[in-house]
Amino acid sequence: MARSENQASFPAYRPRRLRTQPTIRDMVRENTLTPMDLIWPVFVMDGQDAAQPISSMPGISRHTIDRLPALAAQAHGLGIPCICIFPYTNPGLKTQDCAEAWNPDNLSNRAIRTIKAATPEIIVMTDIALDPYNINGHDGIVRGGKILNDETVEALVKMGESQAQVGANILGPSDMMDGRIAAIRSILEKKGFSDVSILSYSAKYASGFYGPFRDAVGATSALTGDKNTYQMDPANSDEAMRMIARDLSEGADMVMIKPGMPYLDICRRAKTEFQVPTFAYQVSGEYAMLKAAAQNGWLNEEQVMLESLIAFKRAGCDGVLTYFAPQAAEVLLSKI
Ligand code: PBG
Repeated sequence: MARSENQASFPAYRPRRLRTQPTIRDMVRENTLTPMDLIWPVFVMDGQDAAQPISSMPGISRHTIDRLPALAAQAHGLGIPCICIFPYTNPGLKTQDCAEAWNPDNLSNRAIRTIKAATPEIIVMTDIALDPYNINGHDGIVRGGKILNDETVEALVKMGESQAQVGANILGPSDMMDGRIAAIRSILEKKGFSDVSILSYSAKYASGFYGPFRDAVGATSALTGDKNTYQMDPANSDEAMRMIARDLSEGADMVMIKPGMPYLDICRRAKTEFQVPTFAYQVSGEYAMLKAAAQNGWLNEEQVMLESLIAFKRAGCDGVLTYFAPQAAEVLLSKI
């Protein structure tokens, strides 16, 4: 907003008056970050009572399912409302048709059931895309070197239905196929899951910042080629608005922009143009960047963590998916 016509000029107007001490800064602060704004992405793997650190994401591990109740309790205790599950699928279960994606007992579905049984208050979000189950590492079914749209949507519908059946609260289609939101919404309505919501990864860019995530879910070595025929060109902004409008018209309840920090302009534009619940994903590469610099002593970790997260609120987001979720929540609670 421009300076008001009624605003005095210097020396009557001294903006530093409102920065003189912490309490007055607290009073005039425009945006706040609380644990309620955070969605915690958690990687799960097979096995028992184990955690496996992900080297490109310092501080983050894959967890076995028996450890999830403790993580859910931790989230609940910290006031984090939502956990998002990402599976590290055994390479032997990856196929061309990605059938493991809708196996009612796949890793992700077992994780959802476990969290909902342990801590029903925790909202469980899922990822809908075929990459953890695909022998090609792509989000869609590949034939003759092409990512097939309509066949993939049929698979995504089965995947979404299986997640709803085991108790997922929010489905997160991250695949960028056309027509998937309408198809998933329609099966949910038909099968009695009208309260299951969809947070669409509407504006998902073909980004280099997903590298560490692909290590975490074991998709790096599987991936052949790139995702440029379905994920968006980082040069585009109008297109993101078209994707959001399209997904809302097909029944998305909430939308996401991904990655986060390099796309804050898209977050602001989305909130201004649509006024719907808007989330950003502070992706693995953003997390890795900040962690690596902090580990080298080049940045103050706590300060840049909180600064990077409040930026999403300032840009208009209602919340953010972040690997910092428990760490940030702890710091935020300690400051109250
Ligand atoms: C899968 C998916 C990806 C991420 C979330 N869901 C990777 C990709 O599209 O290649 C990235 C998350 C992150 O980097 O933290 N469709």
